[in-house]
Amino acid sequence: MTLLARTRLELDEVTAAPVPTAVVMTMGALHDGHAELMREARRRLPQGRVIVTDFVNPTQFGAGEDFDRYPRTLEADVELCERNAVDIVFAPSVDEVYGGAGLGITVDPGARGDLLEGASRPGHFAGVLTVVAKLMHLTRPDIALFGEKDYQQLVLITDMVRALDFRVEVIGVPTVREADGLAMSSRNRYLSAEARARAAVIPRALAAGGDAASAGADAAVNATRALLESEGIDIDYVVVTGTDLLDAPTSGVGRLILAVRIDDVRLIDNVPVDLGGGP
Ligand code: PAJ
Repeated sequence: MTLLARTRLELDEVTAAPVPTAVVMTMGALHDGHAELMREARRRLPQGRVIVTDFVNPTQFGAGEDFDRYPRTLEADVELCERNAVDIVFAPSVDEVYGGAGLGITVDPGARGDLLEGASRPGHFAGVLTVVAKLMHLTRPDIALFGEKDYQQLVLITDMVRALDFRVEVIGVPTVREADGLAMSSRNRYLSAEARARAAVIPRALAAGGDAASAGADAAVNATRALLESEGIDIDYVVVTGTDLLDAPTSGVGRLILAVRIDDVRLIDNVPVDLGGGP
């Protein structure tokens, strides 16, 4: 049975026994991408405790973003967790998380927090890293699972844990996709039927970029952009970086990462790319 905890005190009560623990952090509106993180947690800790946090974190949303209209579906979320062998759902209020001391003290993501998503969403990653740090302390996990779907987030959390010596192993999980290849996302439900159909070009564009990548990072970016533009998609950015988000290497593995806007809905996606054997 999945237990629901709404306060720190309730969470402490149900986690009092020291058991190997996995955490899957989410903002709710759960879908099969989230469920895959839960299943991977259970595979890694068959006898352990799996905690899902379900919290729409206000500090990672900018002014004018979708914090107020972000979908909140707690009852369905708990059911999905139940079906995926989750032990505890921690769904605190904003006050429960931020009501205490420490206003103004945050985790600084460093220079890479200002790239890509951080350039379009100032302060976003300070908000993400701060809430992830708080939720790590509250849930005390041995392992924490995050999706490659949010690749920049995964890299920054992995490096925060190293830089600040959190005693937790961060595990990245490959992106779960719809039948047509579109990455599952809580924000997909904002898309009209027409916009949803057009969004299928995103995975096709990433695949085209991947195919072109052996000729270098620029070729991968150009091939991706060409396909998106042929469908009239509004591009925020398309880049190839190293796996650490810094400059793309001239050979070996890179990451092709994009953000687009379809009907005012911002969608992000990424894939690993093989930049070939070099000169
Ligand atoms: P959210 O967007 O709800 O995502 C929660 C976790 O699910 C993240 O690790 C995300 O990368 C992963 N995820 C989302 N869609 C996925 C997909 N299609 N395949 C695989 N994994 C997927 O990311 C956040 O919430 C927040 O920023 C959070 C880390 C919870 C901090 O507030």
